[in-house]
Amino acid sequence: MGAKRIVIAIDGPSGSGKSTVARAVADGLGYLYIDSGAMYRVVALRVQEEGIAPEEGARVAECAARLTIKLEKRAQSIRVLVGDRDVTDAIRQPQVAQAASVVAAIPAVRALLVAQQQQMGAGGGIVMEGRDIGSVVFPRAELKIFLDASSEERARRRHQEQAEQGIESSLEKTQAEIRQRDQRDRERQVSPLVQAPDAVYLDATSLSAGEVADVIVCLAQKREQAAESALPA
Ligand code: DC
Repeated sequence: MGAKRIVIAIDGPSGSGKSTVARAVADGLGYLYIDSGAMYRVVALRVQEEGIAPEEGARVAECAARLTIKLEKRAQSIRVLVGDRDVTDAIRQPQVAQAASVVAAIPAVRALLVAQQQQMGAGGGIVMEGRDIGSVVFPRAELKIFLDASSEERARRRHQEQAEQGIESSLEKTQAEIRQRDQRDRERQVSPLVQAPDAVYLDATSLSAGEVADVIVCLAQKREQAAESALPA
């Protein structure tokens, strides 16, 4: 029998490169990749479309409870669906990102999405990225990574990513948006962005996504072996 398929939690602030790294790690190990942030973004998008302010906790939670969110792997890309509608591109707009960090501070929304995320990862063999994956969603994950980078580098990467997606923005504006979102994500009452005590801290400021992914795959293979030998014979 092969090694045990574990749960890998990758947390960190916006623009630290979590998505690219998590995807590469999942590909390297043959695991499922789950972008938990996409789920908060879907709620934000639908709330905006329904004319609900992202601060209106009860209405946002009621809207979130009506949604069926799916993350589907198709060829080389992961598509984000709400019902049958593909919202992969729509949720990447900067205004959706800002609203996502507001709806993510609503306890009832978090409870709902965390339960769905736990179900998605119940069988192991997953790489899930977000802000609270190692601290709240999978506190017993076999491998937890806290991925960080300097705020200048994170803004630069996010700006470049937006340019590639055809989203117009200045570097200064992106930097201000990242700072605002970071502050909201770190200072909220429920499940703020924190490094779990047993997480491995990686600073990706001067490393490529491929280099970071290689380090994580190496760690994961050791943890897979350890998890396998801990199983009863
Ligand atoms: O990772 P992202 O930029 O797509 O996340 C969008 C927002 O959702 C971000 O502001 C923080 C929030 N989020 C969260 O609170 N918990 C998660 N597990 C993932 C994202």
